[in-house]
Amino acid sequence: MSAPQPLPAFPHRHLLGIEGLSRLDMQLLLDMADEAVEVSRQVEKKKTTLRGRTQVNLFFEPSTRTQSSFEIAGKRLGADVMNMSVGSSSVKKGETLIDTAITLNAMRPDIIIVRHHQAGAVKLLAQKVECSVVNAGDGAHEHPTQALLDALTIRRRRGRIEGLVVAICGDILHSRVARSNIILLQALGARVRCIGPSTLLPAGIAGLGVEVFTSMREGLAGADIIMMLRLQRERMNGSFVPSVKEYFRFFGLDEEKLSYAKPDALVMHPGPMNRGVEIASDVADGAQSLIREQVEMGVAVRMAVLEALARHLPNS
Ligand code: CP
Repeated sequence: MSAPQPLPAFPHRHLLGIEGLSRLDMQLLLDMADEAVEVSRQVEKKKTTLRGRTQVNLFFEPSTRTQSSFEIAGKRLGADVMNMSVGSSSVKKGETLIDTAITLNAMRPDIIIVRHHQAGAVKLLAQKVECSVVNAGDGAHEHPTQALLDALTIRRRRGRIEGLVVAICGDILHSRVARSNIILLQALGARVRCIGPSTLLPAGIAGLGVEVFTSMREGLAGADIIMMLRLQRERMNGSFVPSVKEYFRFFGLDEEKLSYAKPDALVMHPGPMNRGVEIASDVADGAQSLIREQVEMGVAVRMAVLEALARHLPNS
């Protein structure tokens, strides 16, 4: 195991969103994540930053990437990690979120990672506990570690974020990933475009400073980065697209639509992907795709976030 390092000067006890972070906070997390990539690529991947600490992963919604990478990240930093299965918890018997929070708090965890289907639920939980809390996705509000791992992937591939044209495409209306990315990428100097059918573009989206398009041909012209989003049917209340076939024809990223962007444009997707709905398989698996790299960066970013919060943990 490596010797303990001085803890970084991250000024927040929780990570509840990208909103509220300064540009310096964002750059610090990305720089720390760059170091965590190197640690993760070594044979010996263990650090001692969180030795003796207890990390609880509390996921009220399904997850593959976020939950597993937070578990790996916590373990690489030496924490004891507990994955709480909400399906078999007392939430199923009607226990409220606040009572669940107070119950967990009594067990003296040091950090809780929370995913919840309601926007604002993670912030509410953070107010009821004495430990640090990380938002792993709350409704259509924010998914801060996804945006950070996307930014890290872009920065490592392109060497910068400033000045790049990033097109976020698809179901912007229901996407916490889009919201966190819009705030983060613009703060770091990217030009962000949102492309989708008008039914899936939130009212007032232009007020966030993005350029808005309903045509892939127009929106992708000159784009450096294309970020595809899943149709988030679990958050849809009604019919937003005529049919999946029709949606793919106009908004699914295939080779033809990819050719509208810069020749060396890079393709991203936060996952889970629906092949043949928002992205064609040959594009998802093609030479311009960064999708697997994003998953690797996910572990590094979550290590960075846990390390950044370490100085604020109870009894630090
Ligand atoms: N991108 C993302 O949040 O994936 P999971 O739902 O699998 O965690």
